[in-house]
Amino acid sequence: MRPFLFLLVIGRLVAQEPARFLPAGDCALCHTRIPDAGGSWTDQAGWVGPSHLWKNSMMAHAAQDPYWRAKVAFETALAPRESRAIEDKCLRCHAPVDQYPKRAANEQLALSGMTALGREGVTCTICHQIEAPGLGRAESFTGSFTLGTKDRLYGPFADPFTMPMLHHTGFTATEAAHIRQAALCGTCHTVITHPRGGQGEFVEQAPFLEWLASEYPRKGTTCQGCHMPALASAQYIAHRPPGGAFPPTAPRSPFARHLFAGGNALVPAVLGNGEMQSRARQQLDRALKLDLKLRREQDVAIVSVLVTNLTGHKLPTAFPSRRLWLHLVAKDSAGKVVFETGAWDPAAGDIADGPDPVVFEAQYADANGRPTVSLLAAARYRKDTRILPAGFRAGRLAEAGLHGFELGPVAVPANLELPRGSAIATFRVASRGPLTFEAEALFQTIQTSHQLPAFPIPAQLRGPVSLARVATALQ
Ligand code: HEC
Ligand code: HEC
Ligand code: HEC
Ligand code: HEC
Ligand code: HEC
Repeated sequence: MRPFLFLLVIGRLVAQEPARFLPAGDCALCHTRIPDAGGSWTDQAGWVGPSHLWKNSMMAHAAQDPYWRAKVAFETALAPRESRAIEDKCLRCHAPVDQYPKRAANEQLALSGMTALGREGVTCTICHQIEAPGLGRAESFTGSFTLGTKDRLYGPFADPFTMPMLHHTGFTATEAAHIRQAALCGTCHTVITHPRGGQGEFVEQAPFLEWLASEYPRKGTTCQGCHMPALASAQYIAHRPPGGAFPPTAPRSPFARHLFAGGNALVPAVLGNGEMQSRARQQLDRALKLDLKLRREQDVAIVSVLVTNLTGHKLPTAFPSRRLWLHLVAKDSAGKVVFETGAWDPAAGDIADGPDPVVFEAQYADANGRPTVSLLAAARYRKDTRILPAGFRAGRLAEAGLHGFELGPVAVPANLELPRGSAIATFRVASRGPLTFEAEALFQTIQTSHQLPAFPIPAQLRGPVSLARVATALQ
């Protein structure tokens, strides 16, 4: 090796060249105009290219999300003297392009320090540069990922045709198995805090841990499997800038779609993004199955509502503003309502009073046991009635080397059972004659107690959406 080249190599190793980021628009040059089977390079409607799909996801809006911004302001107002540290914490996963270099330099990032690139949120050059070491282990949680310093972009496919991308971006496409692992998502989708005024740690969001304790890892169903569903057929993963395939490449399979839809249909509606909103609605339609079982004991009708959780984690999961509940109505043969619980009261903007309400949700308490919606004051769960995923066994976390995480239900009401993968809610309705029952599962993205004055929600969007409905009669 010539001496000056040798010095260059050593210099680079010692200085640990910082990770690099590029705007998503640079990738769009070759990763947008990809049609589904039968579509064309020119008709946007059928495009499934990563760049085309990602831009209508909440992750692409993570640093601009008006509800997130309102919540950051809410948290800093509670502890003004810590505002810089709080902003830095909130930017860690929501604006990683700007926060990661600060973290590496042992500095903190303020909201006002965000750049145009940082506002792209969870962008291409974040996920595709995450390195494998530590993933799935506690050291990688709470956004503690390591980003590449090798100018490589990891992807799922062997032998990528690297020349065009290297030439345009300076990055080398590289096959890496970890890109398909749930643990890649688990780095940011496991949020652990250090409660203010308290001790130890608090697990605020844990879809990855919930998934790990479920039957899905054994079945090989990852986050990617449900949130980036693959096309039915093989497809090119890149196109020449004007459209059409690079001659040396062939269609690849499975081709994952960068949909990233979750339960948030509200913020997309406020942002006026119809595409993102309809994706969330479709994803919510896959969340659960509802069944009714009826029997009679003398003059009492006993109704069991069975909710099956079809997601890969708790239902609802992640951000604590989400709630799901049961609306049940019984009518007699004259059509008169004889029993109702879980009705939505638009005037109050909340669930109406009713007998034995069943709400699937997480509620936090602070270090003094008082109810709180502050992410940084929360020290324990005072309620967790979310529906467990199929096959849930808390012991699986310990088997995976993860200790000290409590994920079980808390404060479950007497008329609710939470076996693995489902919920059984039982209601008793006094009546001799025939009855008809109608049950409905209602989902609210930002429940009343989590709404913030700095993020006013238009009245027509404040209420819940209906995810499923069933009706049966009892003679
Ligand atoms: C470890 C990564 C991480 C950190 C740190 C983090 N968040 Fe988040 N945040 C997430 C993820 C992941 C979601 C998506 C959860 C979901 O959609 O249910 C989210 C969702 C949210 C939402 C809901 C957004 C919506 O549109 O409904 C708010 C609000 C929010 N975060 C506020 C904050 C605040 C305030 C802080 C700082 C105190 C913070 N986050 C720090 C990862 C993080
Ligand atoms: C949240 C993380 C994340 C973000 C953001 C992201 N990707 Fe991906 N990408 C993945 C994962 C995971 C896979 C592999 C999925 C699989 O095979 O199951 C993937 C696969 C790909 C592939 C291979 C083809 C395919 O779809 O399977 C390309 C090309 C790609 N991404 C480009 C991009 C571009 C360009 C952007 C930005 C517009 C982007 N990605 C943003 C996680 C991400
Ligand atoms: C000039 C065109 C071009 C640009 C710009 C471009 N890529 Fe690519 N990319 C390609 C080609 C060509 C392939 C390989 C296709 C194949 O071999 O099937 C590829 C492959 C990939 C893969 C899959 C690698 C694998 O082994 O699975 C990922 C991930 C990826 N690109 C991400 C990105 C990201 C992120 C950007 C923006 C920073 C980007 N690309 C910019 C042309 C481009
Ligand atoms: C760099 C951190 C990071 C990584 C890595 C990451 N996410 Fe996210 N994700 C976020 C943040 C932050 C949000 C919240 C955005 C918001 O609502 O403001 C989010 C939101 C989401 C949502 C919720 C959308 C909704 O409707 O509420 C889904 C689904 C999601 N991510 C899936 C994934 C999957 C699948 C992966 C792995 C392939 C992944 N994420 C990797 C940070 C990350
Ligand atoms: C079996 C399919 C399935 C698997 C596996 C799965 N999810 Fe989900 N996920 C869903 C469905 C359906 C929803 C919509 C219902 C909801 O919002 O709870 C959802 C919702 C979400 C949300 C949004 C919750 C909200 O309402 O804000 C996040 C964040 C999320 N998933 C992350 C993940 C992560 C991270 C993994 C892997 C550790 C994962 N998911 C695995 C099906 C799945």
